[in-house]
Amino acid sequence: EKDKELIRGSWESLGKNKVPHGVIMFSRLFELDPALPSLFHYNTNCGSTQDCLSSPEFLEHVTKVMLVIDAAVSHLDDLHTLEDFLLNLGRKHQAVGVSTQSFAAVGESLLYMLQCSLGQGYTAPLRQAWLNMYSIVVAAMSRGWAK
Ligand code: HEM
Repeated sequence: EKDKELIRGSWESLGKNKVPHGVIMFSRLFELDPALPSLFHYNTNCGSTQDCLSSPEFLEHVTKVMLVIDAAVSHLDDLHTLEDFLLNLGRKHQAVGVSTQSFAAVGESLLYMLQCSLGQGYTAPLRQAWLNMYSIVVAAMSRGWAK
């Protein structure tokens, strides 16, 4: 219950500004794994990672990711209702060439974004609460690879 309060409390302000926070997250992700930008097929003729990060299709994906996080935060009490959606989402990512190993870097980038945005509010219990929720989401998405 404490976890849920921490997550909801921190998402309240972040969730109102999805795109800029998502851009911080993906900038970090592309630093951690420079091979990932090329998986966005519409990025193939980007001159630099910076160009990619500002392309409209890419910003749409950022919005999609933030909306999935938003849905998870809204369904903290019944995350299992997202199971089928997340399994299918995993399947789509397998199809575009994402590997499940990349989710570790995505998780790190999510924490990085939270740390940047929350400053003093980024505490060990808060970090753990987010990690717990993220691992449930990733586990559900990863099931999309098995089948
Ligand atoms: C779709 C790449 C992580 C949510 C896509 C697409 C690509 C992609 C190439 C299809 C084109 C598009 O819709 O823009 C990646 C890569 C990731 C990543 C490289 C990091 C390794 C995530 C995460 C989430 C997410 C963590 C949410 C938790 C979505 C959604 C769609 C999508 C909702 C649309 C699926 C649909 O069309 O039904 N992703 N993605 N992605 N991604 Fe990701």
